[in-house]
Amino acid sequence: MNRIPLIAGNWKMFKTGSQSVETALSLAELSCDVKDIDIMIAPPFPALALVNEKIRASRIHLGAQNLFYEKAGAYTGEVSAEMLKETGVSYVIIGHSERRQYFGETNESVCRKIRAAVDSALAPVMCIGETEDEKKEEKTFYVLDKQIENGLKGFRSDELSDLVIAYEPVWAIGTGNSATPDQVQQVHRYIRTKIQKFFNRKFAEETRIIYGGSVKPDNISELMAHDDVDGALVGGASLDADNFIKIIKYNRMK
Ligand code: 13P
Repeated sequence: MNRIPLIAGNWKMFKTGSQSVETALSLAELSCDVKDIDIMIAPPFPALALVNEKIRASRIHLGAQNLFYEKAGAYTGEVSAEMLKETGVSYVIIGHSERRQYFGETNESVCRKIRAAVDSALAPVMCIGETEDEKKEEKTFYVLDKQIENGLKGFRSDELSDLVIAYEPVWAIGTGNSATPDQVQQVHRYIRTKIQKFFNRKFAEETRIIYGGSVKPDNISELMAHDDVDGALVGGASLDADNFIKIIKYNRMK
């Protein structure tokens, strides 16, 4: 199955507008010769329009880090899918563990947000993954099952052709303690099998499953060598263009 790898940078709450533009411009230049890989960066909201101006002609796709599921209304501080779409956004990260942990997101709100993204033709990057405690209690697969079943409840597979699933074990995020490539492959295989049971085989084979959690230039190639690893969602190591381009230009072994 020929799934195009996706290397995505989640800048979280780092970089002002001008700092985002600077990094995006460097990255656009450094990535102009990259082929057969989708590149995405997700700067903070205030930088989106500014960055879009600069990368429109480049190979880089623009992503947002969140959205709200309502179309419009009295929801102070929130941003709709349509607003993102008009700003040049094509991907949106949904249900990141930091949003689940600090902002009360649940599988149910994730589901509504994916619906809003799909309705506005934004590609949802649905984040799933277990915490350290859940891993210790051997609940990883149970947690992933619930996140998938409830996060994707009510969808037909043909509505989700742009869906990306990001497996981000919470214990590996920002810790420098990445899951091993074998662990990642095992979980990604599990997720693909779950998607197959929940939807169908063709959809499972076509859906990109990417990994996030302490991805760095020195572990990306080994991760990507595995069959079910279709890319990476990179936090800290995506903030610097010279560093991030090393991840984008990983050694391809498959
Ligand atoms: P780090 O790469 O900093 O561990 O963050 C991963 C992440 O949360 C990406 O969404």
